[in-house]
Amino acid sequence: MNAIPKGISPFYPGQPIPVELFVGRQKEIEKIARAVKQVELGKPQAIFLAGEYGIGKSSLASFMRFYAEKENHLLGIHVFLWSTTTIDEVAAKTVETVLKAPAYEPTLTEKVRNILSKYVGEQELFGIRINLNALKADTPNIAQGYLPFLRQLLERLTDEDIKGIMLILDEINGITSTPKFAHFIKGLVDENALSANPLPLMLLLCGVEERRREMIKHHQPVERIFDIVEINPMTEQEMKEFFKQAFLSQNIKIKDDALSLLCKYSAGFPKIMHIVGDTVFWKDRDGIIDKEDALDGIFDAAEDIGRKFVDQQVLKALRSKDYHSIMEKMSKLPFDLSFQKTDLGKGLSESEKKKIDNFLQRMKKLKVLSSGDIQGEYIFNSRLVRLYILLNSIKKATHD
Ligand SMILES: Nc1ncnc2c1ncn2[C@@H]1O[C@H](COP(=O)(O)OP(=O)(O)OP(=O)(O)O)[C@@H](O)[C@H]1O
Ligand SMILES: [Mg+2]
Repeated sequence: MNAIPKGISPFYPGQPIPVELFVGRQKEIEKIARAVKQVELGKPQAIFLAGEYGIGKSSLASFMRFYAEKENHLLGIHVFLWSTTTIDEVAAKTVETVLKAPAYEPTLTEKVRNILSKYVGEQELFGIRINLNALKADTPNIAQGYLPFLRQLLERLTDEDIKGIMLILDEINGITSTPKFAHFIKGLVDENALSANPLPLMLLLCGVEERRREMIKHHQPVERIFDIVEINPMTEQEMKEFFKQAFLSQNIKIKDDALSLLCKYSAGFPKIMHIVGDTVFWKDRDGIIDKEDALDGIFDAAEDIGRKFVDQQVLKALRSKDYHSIMEKMSKLPFDLSFQKTDLGKGLSESEKKKIDNFLQRMKKLKVLSSGDIQGEYIFNSRLVRLYILLNSIKKATHD
């Protein structure tokens, strides 16, 4: 049978999710929405959006930016600080972002570009070009007067009915190692709180918890600045909603048993949901995802995840024949990231049990596992390796 032609894949591995396909996170949305409302009313707020790699921080931040613009009239600035290491660069990136990443309301984008026209170079066919020389010359001043810069921007937007600013600082891995960054953030929050007329500013930092700890290490008072909103793996309900909605958006149906499989093997982890979903999407040939399609897709996704996210040495070890039964046992144990050595040994033969110590030592050496606080407890350092092991068990299941 010829495959039916495919539309756009509704899956976005490696990219924050577009607002229309965003699902779940109701509790977290409510928490941030409450803070955003306070900002609209004039009271500054600061939130640290914490969660492990690939859990959905940037997606939630981007969704909230849209929400805050629409519901609370805040201008959203979502700055990705990737390779940034100095405060000057933070300042320059902020200006670039306001200019380059359009607001959802086109007239607002226009207005912002007019206000900052000094930094706009020649018009390009798509988007705008930054006048780097002009920006570079002003960067130290903007970095020094970051709050006044934001304030002036807002003051010139009151005609547009803009009530405040939502500043999202994302991808902060590089910059948090700079001690000055902790001081910069604390200074920004304090300066604003102490000013006669505080700027309605929603400051949202996205990062793994270690980054917040790192900032606190550099400057203890950072501990008191943020309300913390933590993102956890998705619930079964959220995953189901996600897969159904994504497939339905391309007129593809999914059978219940297939849906359960996709959820089981994604284990609430959005990054995996998208890789698995995308693989299944391209495999399907008749517009209906059944169990076979799901198993087939998960099987291929496991390979892909292994290649992309698991170190070569680790892959080689995990694939070694000696460890097959341990891997199989592991994929059946219902644990999140930490497990007990005794549970792993249960039901294994004496010779297999002997291999466990060797396996655990090897995995510790490869930094896949570390010892937990309790005796005999082991913890996966990377959720992706843990999920790779789970995904791989599908090979056995289908080929038996
Ligand atoms: N609420 C959601 N609904 C649907 N898909 C989502 C949701 N949140 C995240 N995703 C998807 O999960 C993957 C990871 O999301 P995202 O990039 O937002 O995570 P992150 O925590 O910012 O990751 P990193 O630590 O790499 O910055 C992406 O493919 C994204 O499209
Ligand atoms: Mg991110």
